[in-house]
Amino acid sequence: MQVATEIRKQAFGHTSDGMAVELYTLANREVEARITNYGGIIVSLHTPDRNGKLDDLVLGYDSLDKYIAKTPYFGAIIGRYANRIAHATFSLDGITYTLAKNDGDNHLHGGFNKRVWTAKDVSSSAGQALELTYLSKDGEEGFPGNLPVKVVYTLTDKNELKIDYSATTDKDTVLNLTNHAYFNLAGQGNGDILQQHIMIQADRFTPIDQFSIPTGELRSVKGTPFDFTTATAIGARIDQDDQQLKMGKGYDHNWVLNNPAAGSLFLAAQAYDPHSGRVLEVLTTEPGIQLYTGNFLDGIHGKDGKVYDRRNAFCLETQHFPDSPNHPSFPTSELKPGQHFESTTVYKFSTK
Ligand code: BGC
Repeated sequence: MQVATEIRKQAFGHTSDGMAVELYTLANREVEARITNYGGIIVSLHTPDRNGKLDDLVLGYDSLDKYIAKTPYFGAIIGRYANRIAHATFSLDGITYTLAKNDGDNHLHGGFNKRVWTAKDVSSSAGQALELTYLSKDGEEGFPGNLPVKVVYTLTDKNELKIDYSATTDKDTVLNLTNHAYFNLAGQGNGDILQQHIMIQADRFTPIDQFSIPTGELRSVKGTPFDFTTATAIGARIDQDDQQLKMGKGYDHNWVLNNPAAGSLFLAAQAYDPHSGRVLEVLTTEPGIQLYTGNFLDGIHGKDGKVYDRRNAFCLETQHFPDSPNHPSFPTSELKPGQHFESTTVYKFSTK
């Protein structure tokens, strides 16, 4: 067992209204994750390759100012609702709620990535751990209910970065939390991820319309470029003449996980980089996972002088399905007073 010590804390700058923001370093013998309480962003994540060489696997910025200025949600906690809600509106208990439009006519990802969270070192024998809490007030971005949210990042001695999400509400509401880490298993800024392999344990996905909103259909992946039931290079089929790939400008879709015991931890996806030998396993209690292949990265100047272009990273965002509040047939994203929302996702790093 790893001996739990205090996590290292350093200054990371100030928000425009003068709030101090910190950077916390969670480390075990091999893996080091640096997380800021601004948006709960994973700023860096170093893991060894098969020869023991350390690389930083996540895209991001060197300074807080850049995360504040503009970000495609690099490494952040996403809420209240991960992914899109069509026309930025939904009804609950006969009341229509209007949300902030921040993606054309739609609502995308909310604003938890821009909040300063309260941080606490909760390290234990389970590993070094950082607890982040935030009170999302009734009406934030248009969502009903005061929503105290807690996110705990734990780095275990098995090289797992475990993320435990929990929340309660004082009014009926909807909720969908995830983390938006952009991974490149060859190291951030080291080119595209098209040779890296992905496996997703899902027989179905949710096709989208031209605005990236699910149509409501759960479509079989069989015989399509969306079949990742056996590990396949991300780039093997990404440019095929396929209507759904065109709609997403690559992969930017939600897969319906084959978890036989809904709500229990399930191996949702595995990624592998044949060059470095790095393996990333993603386990989750969530019913869905978004594979986004960085289709909109367009020459962003990131960490260590690196430039991030199209398809230089992939995201595996564990989640409820996009636009669930407008699709009663999807697993419900509703949370009611008295209920306790809990969700866990594990990113596990190894080599082969
Ligand atoms: C969405 C993409 C979006 C990206 C960055 C992903 O979760 O599915 O459409 O461009 O996040 O915002």
